[in-house]
Amino acid sequence: MSATIIDGKAYAEGLRSRIAGAVGTLAGQGVTPGLAVVIVGEDPASQLYVKNKARQTVEVGMRSFEHKLPATTSETGLLDLVARLNADPAVDGILVQLPLPKQIDAQKVIEAIDPSKDVDGFHPINAGRLMTGVPGLVSCTPLGCLLLAQSVRRDLAGLNAVVLGRSNIVGKPMAQLLIAQSCTVTVAHSKTRDLPQVCRNADLLVAAVGRPEMVRGDWIKPGAIVIDVGINRVPNPAAGEAKTRVVGDIAYAEAAPVASAITPVPGGVGPMTIACLLRNTLEAACLRRG
Ligand code: GUN
Repeated sequence: MSATIIDGKAYAEGLRSRIAGAVGTLAGQGVTPGLAVVIVGEDPASQLYVKNKARQTVEVGMRSFEHKLPATTSETGLLDLVARLNADPAVDGILVQLPLPKQIDAQKVIEAIDPSKDVDGFHPINAGRLMTGVPGLVSCTPLGCLLLAQSVRRDLAGLNAVVLGRSNIVGKPMAQLLIAQSCTVTVAHSKTRDLPQVCRNADLLVAAVGRPEMVRGDWIKPGAIVIDVGINRVPNPAAGEAKTRVVGDIAYAEAAPVASAITPVPGGVGPMTIACLLRNTLEAACLRRG
């Protein structure tokens, strides 16, 4: 039997339409949530993300404030902007697009953002809230992964969950979210011994390592739920020399016949990240404005 394909695009559309409904209700009370996105430099992938964020923010009825700074921006210059956004009552959420140029200490910038406006959930206060089970803003990609896993299995309690990757942005918050759902969580990484065997124990596998198709079909436990965070651009010889295609961290064609449910790439986790960002902005607006 082949796996259920988890349609992240459709789920994200539904989520955005529910957010738009709530934003409409707030508008009736004279409140319009605002999201400020800051990008430093010219990285094309980051620019595309930021453009998509701004478009979707406006589509759900929120205000979008875009700040494009040159790659030569100093750390002080960026910290000054963050301070202004912290103080701006029209701004409910602040996102500083990562990575930042070398002269800027990203952690310093993250820690300068008012935790109540930290819609990325990267501030140590929000990371700490997640770890201690206190409500707070949760990192968007892991939140999207959780929602997709729960879309095929409401109750994840007791599952063996394996998270591949230990980044602050995905792996660590993902593990915390799954612990909060009463999963038994293993966090695996580049130094983990016998990774295939660790993965074969996973009822729920979340891959966030950034290595194209690293997880093979025989690493998957029959019936597992498989969530692929990877977005890797690889050459596509079938389409000509210069062409590329996007693949995940999971060898999808091998894994799909073994899993019970799997996210495709593209169209799985990717669309959920911005939808969850909008959800966080709405939540931040409701909490801040009572
Ligand atoms: N760069 C890639 N993903 C993200 C994200 O989720 N948030 C921010 N701020 N930067 C990113």
